[in-house]
Amino acid sequence: MSNYHIKHLEEYYQVYRKSVRNPEIFWEEIAEEHFMWRKKWDNVLSWDFTKPEVKWFEGAQLNITENCIDRHLYTRGDKTAIIFEPNNPEEEAQHISYRQLHEKVCRFANVLKEKGIQKGDRVCIYLPMIPELAISVLACARIGAIHSVVFAGFSSIALSTRINDSNCKMVITSDGSFRGAKTIDLKGIVDDALEDCDGIESVLVAKRINSEIHMKEGRDHWLQPLLDEAYHDCVPEIMDAEDPLFILYTSGSTGKPKGMVHTTAGYMVFTAYTFKNVFQYREKDVYWCTADIGWITGHSYILYGPLCNGATTVMFEGVPSYPDFGRFWEIIEKHKVNQFYTAPTAIRALAKEGVKHVEKHDLSSIKVLGTVGEPINEEAWHWYDDNIGKRKAPIVDTWWQTETGGIMITPIAFCTPTKPTYATLPFIGIQPALMDENGKEIKGNQVDGRLCIKFPWPSMARTIWGNHQRYKDTYFSAYENKYFTGDGALRDEVGYYRITGRVDDVIIVSGHNLGTAPIEDAINEHPAVAESAIVGFPHDIKGNALYGFVTLKESGESRNHDNVRKEINQIITEQIGPIAKLDKVQFTNGLPKTRSGKIMRRILRKIAGKETSNLGDTSTLLNPEVVQDIMDNVL
Ligand code: WTA
Repeated sequence: MSNYHIKHLEEYYQVYRKSVRNPEIFWEEIAEEHFMWRKKWDNVLSWDFTKPEVKWFEGAQLNITENCIDRHLYTRGDKTAIIFEPNNPEEEAQHISYRQLHEKVCRFANVLKEKGIQKGDRVCIYLPMIPELAISVLACARIGAIHSVVFAGFSSIALSTRINDSNCKMVITSDGSFRGAKTIDLKGIVDDALEDCDGIESVLVAKRINSEIHMKEGRDHWLQPLLDEAYHDCVPEIMDAEDPLFILYTSGSTGKPKGMVHTTAGYMVFTAYTFKNVFQYREKDVYWCTADIGWITGHSYILYGPLCNGATTVMFEGVPSYPDFGRFWEIIEKHKVNQFYTAPTAIRALAKEGVKHVEKHDLSSIKVLGTVGEPINEEAWHWYDDNIGKRKAPIVDTWWQTETGGIMITPIAFCTPTKPTYATLPFIGIQPALMDENGKEIKGNQVDGRLCIKFPWPSMARTIWGNHQRYKDTYFSAYENKYFTGDGALRDEVGYYRITGRVDDVIIVSGHNLGTAPIEDAINEHPAVAESAIVGFPHDIKGNALYGFVTLKESGESRNHDNVRKEINQIITEQIGPIAKLDKVQFTNGLPKTRSGKIMRRILRKIAGKETSNLGDTSTLLNPEVVQDIMDNVL
């Protein structure tokens, strides 16, 4: 019997050792016993980090939706797969059983086929958190189309960039979305985006807000009538283990977004196995992850991981503050949620509102709490533990990335003793390493360094869509034969890991990764701007907020600064989305630069964070005189 369900710490250590000593035998056992294959693999793993090339379960054939849906039909057909909780609490929640999910996914899959989508085609999904989002993702997987979900908070320009980067043939969207008290015209954003996308042949539109929208003849189709006409069953496409399952974009430190490519078999095995163990999911539990399916957390831990385990997973359309700050707690009470998984930024925002909203609700169903997306500060950790878990529910602080596909460093609930702000121990099969600046691994405990992973794991991204060289350069070039995460970490005296944050030019704002380069590019489009630099600075709720240092052109100096500030944020909103707006904009006479002309962000970061006691040596700068001036005018 394989060790599919780990129940105590001793077992964790024992299984961990096995998974590291003999990864192939270990993963083969897990894959063999707990998944449905059309054909078994010829080879469990082949890898070469110098190319880099990684293949898991090569030769195997499967369809992930058979694992997520069909195989449960006999044993759990009437069990609720997805609970949809609408934005408006007055609107009734929907309970979609595995049997209903099967029919809905099959019908949708047949609509995709009818509109000419074939195995390997890319389909862009730009939808709010409504059931059609989950169903369309699974429908793509059913027929072997590669889904590329774009978070519905991105702007039309960000959307068109992503559509074009992966040559999508179709967009699936809705007439609009509800977000708290607001409605958003999603279809209008799609229309704007598509002016620059020649490859799109059709647009499927789900009805959500019932607004009058423009439908382009021949291109745009209302979804519902097509679903009504479609056949209720669809034979799944048989996929190879390494066929791409989806593309998901993440920000890089430079230039355009990176389309991370995840493949089928390894991703399935790892997300399912981590879900079961990290959250200790049991058959009758109700699990809720508050992420959006537009992010990796939603892909892996709202959809694929839970559904593969036959779980009941909650999908929430709204926001934590609507109609008031008690909404999350109300939903936990209403659906008797057992595992609750959210982000530190949400915890901080809710903690700020005090416990009065919490106290109105019965949270006794909670067994496990989770957090993800950024380091959790000690205060937020304790607030969560005291008030939501009532000190009885372990907090799993899960560290992972879009690129890793699944959870990498984490406590296993009820097994690993937790420690505030620590993601604790590597998950089964994960081999972390801390590296020093000279590229040497730092052994032993009570050390810190740059976090790398030494050995492949099943759900790692295999490439960047259309740019394998960039994949190699970004992740496999900093340290020989290792995957570099971009994060710093420390290891304490018992071997627990604490993630300290990004060491590259990615800034995490409210749990969203933002690359500095695309934001600077946007700012520099303002006609009055000569150059700009973005850094993060500590923010009580968002974790980090963005601080922009902007130098105006001579011709722009006479402009009203407040107006320029507004215009800059307007451009950022148009090019990227409102999540990338700057909290502070300081106008400077120049930016500190090295003699080779590189902007010294390290200095700017310290100034923005008001840590100017130790700026380091500024005398080697090309223009040391600007530093004092910037310090004098800091916001
Ligand atoms: C950060 C989200 C500290 C980290 C799943 C990582 C975390 C980036 C944690 C990936 C955590 C994620 N503690 N930092 N528990 N989880 N991060 O791609 O910097 O949106 O590299 O994936 O978030 O963000 P991404």
